[in-house]
Amino acid sequence: MSRICLPTVDRRKLLLGGASLAAAAWLPRSALGAVTPAQEFTLAAAPARASLVGPPHPETDVWCYNGSTPGPEIRVRQGERIRVHVENRLPEETTVHWHGIRLPNAMDGVPHLTQKPIAPGETFAYEFTCPDAGTFWYHPHQRSFVQVGRGLYGALVVEERETVPVDRDVTWVLSDWRLLDDASISGDFGNMHDVSHNGRVGNTVTINGRIPETFAARAGERIRLRLINGANARIFGLEFEGHRPQIIALDGQPVEPHAPLNNRVVLGPAMRIDLLLDMTAQPGQRFCIVDTFYRGLEYKLLDLVYADDAPLRDLANATPVRLPDNPLPEPNLESAQRHQVTLGGGMMGSMRTAILDGQQVDIRTLMHNGLVWAINGVAAKGHVHEPLLTLERNRPYILELVNDTMWHHPVHLHGHSFRVISRDGKPTRYREWQDTVLLSRQERAEIAFVADNPGDWMIHCHILEHQAGGMMGVIRVT
Ligand code: C2O
Ligand code: CU
Repeated sequence: MSRICLPTVDRRKLLLGGASLAAAAWLPRSALGAVTPAQEFTLAAAPARASLVGPPHPETDVWCYNGSTPGPEIRVRQGERIRVHVENRLPEETTVHWHGIRLPNAMDGVPHLTQKPIAPGETFAYEFTCPDAGTFWYHPHQRSFVQVGRGLYGALVVEERETVPVDRDVTWVLSDWRLLDDASISGDFGNMHDVSHNGRVGNTVTINGRIPETFAARAGERIRLRLINGANARIFGLEFEGHRPQIIALDGQPVEPHAPLNNRVVLGPAMRIDLLLDMTAQPGQRFCIVDTFYRGLEYKLLDLVYADDAPLRDLANATPVRLPDNPLPEPNLESAQRHQVTLGGGMMGSMRTAILDGQQVDIRTLMHNGLVWAINGVAAKGHVHEPLLTLERNRPYILELVNDTMWHHPVHLHGHSFRVISRDGKPTRYREWQDTVLLSRQERAEIAFVADNPGDWMIHCHILEHQAGGMMGVIRVT
């Protein structure tokens, strides 16, 4: 496995060159740590400066919640209610979407569809209960390809009612920036090349807003590592040299603990994976974590560095941690109604026409409107649409998602979690609950859920340039 320690791309180049900042690889729990019911939080979205690359590079102009990117980690306990006052001090409208939280439609943060966007200088209060324990996150839904790309997002962690037996609970908000030589953010958001290919994949990867050098650990430690992919478009494929991480939750929802396929933890945009990372090596040892997702663009994310201290415990026969289930309604597959949701468009695709504003138009007209993608033949502009599907409340549904394109798409459904029951016709082994399912080119997946949450819900690709380029729609639950 040591081959993965030799990145084929010089990380210095990839990361803008020069020395990078040695930083703690996780955020300290902020003042938000205390847990009481109906807790109040304030998130102020505003421009700020952040040292992403570290000296000697200048700071970067970013957009932040409460002055930092990622914004503060909001931590609550399962079943608790929170009220979050969002202040908009940006030069444009915004909203906040609570990705993966099953909440009332009016709190979902989709501009025009579920609320009036928050104008500059205005405040909006979101209030909801967190029914599921797990790793979630928040981000704007207004021009998200720009607002997320400039640094607006943060973790929302809902703790289980009982403590989970790990030594450390660590959150990594992974992100990806397209920086110029002076460490400023490249202003080419939403350019047609990114929109029609694999989105805005950047040149600088950060963990919790910093380029990390090392992650310090102790032999015998059990770590719950919460990975959140906050990037616009980058898919991560993380390999942990010398270790066997177990996936214990996907998109916040517990899953039977299992090793990732080919020992690579694959995380599409917006996805979360909770890993149980047993520190099974010896004191003083050092390993690397590499990202091998894009061929030719492999790089080392950081070094895992063991302290010299004696092992905390012997992990040789340790059993994996099994998280308690969340209260999700189980879809009855026998009686479920089926629908197909087909993704089309993009470079090298076969889409020649699509429906735009109710009219069938050709690809040139679409491109004039900045659109190159469609769902069920409809290219979406803005957030308000005739629903793709209207579902009856409390009934089970199976949606067959068909990726009829040459690109990956992480497809996200709002307001619900769904089981991924098959891929390319084969039943999935873990029948995992997700809110974002990553489809490879030409892949099909069946998802099943009970439509128990009334309202108009977005379904869209979470490569934010694809979403902006038309790959978005509405599913209505009546
Ligand atoms: Cu994470 Cu519709 O969004
Ligand atoms: Cu996509």
